[in-house]
Amino acid sequence: MNSLRVSHYLNSVTLKRDEVPDFDCYPFSIPAVRELKTLEFHPKLTFFVGENGSGKSTLLEGIAERLGYSIEGGTKNTNLAMGEYRSPLTSRLMLSKTYNRPMDGFFLRAESYYNFASIIDEIGNTWSYGGKSLHQQSHGESFFATLLHRIDGHGVYLFDEPEAALSPQRQLSLLVRLHDLIDEHSQFIIATHSPIILAYPDAWIYQFSESGIERVSYEDTDNFQITRNFLRDPQGMIRKLLRREDERGF
Ligand SMILES: Nc1ncnc2c1ncn2[C@@H]1O[C@H](COP(=O)(O)OP(=O)(O)O)[C@@H](O)[C@H]1O
Ligand SMILES: [Mg+2]
Repeated sequence: MNSLRVSHYLNSVTLKRDEVPDFDCYPFSIPAVRELKTLEFHPKLTFFVGENGSGKSTLLEGIAERLGYSIEGGTKNTNLAMGEYRSPLTSRLMLSKTYNRPMDGFFLRAESYYNFASIIDEIGNTWSYGGKSLHQQSHGESFFATLLHRIDGHGVYLFDEPEAALSPQRQLSLLVRLHDLIDEHSQFIIATHSPIILAYPDAWIYQFSESGIERVSYEDTDNFQITRNFLRDPQGMIRKLLRREDERGF
């Protein structure tokens, strides 16, 4: 592949461990942060996976703030919080960047997408999101409008659980859109639980757990294994789960 086509803006993130005030305090006490030294990013797509509460959003927020986004998500223009970082982690993170400068960017958070849609309505910028208020579209439609009309490549994009809004069919469409955007010199960091989205082949997957962060293969993720085992025999799995719960007296 022609190296000019390789999108690459962020090399890695490093925790400046000597500047951490206390590893027993949140957010430094989360194992993924407590054990963090340097995490290398894939030139195109890096995934964060792991149980709920394992620290994926915490690290993604820190990276986002470091890049100039608001913790609530959106574009740099929708960062209404001026001045201080909101996460105590942010100032202790160091990003290693290449000489390529991204021309676009977006931090998508399913959790606070509603607030972002309100900001877009307020500043009357709906044209770049498909010409219709994001509030007048379903969550999935409005997310897709953002993906199609607002995100146009040559940028760094951070997504936190994009699947929250999307049907399985739309998750497949997301894969296609990601592929096109990656072809247009984009770099993504995505926290996800979706075994569909995780299947994108040219990516690194970091698993967050009690022992820190480690790189794993797609087939080794819980997301893949649990979904595969379930779909092989849904009724059998349900029977096993419910029987166990009966034994526990639920
Ligand atoms: N303000 C806070 N104070 C203390 N703990 C918090 C705070 N916010 C989040 N946490 C905890 O930090 C951990 C990591 O959260 P998060 O990064 O959101 O996890 P994930 O995105 O992997 O589900 C969780 O155990 C959560 O309960
Ligand atoms: Mg999260």
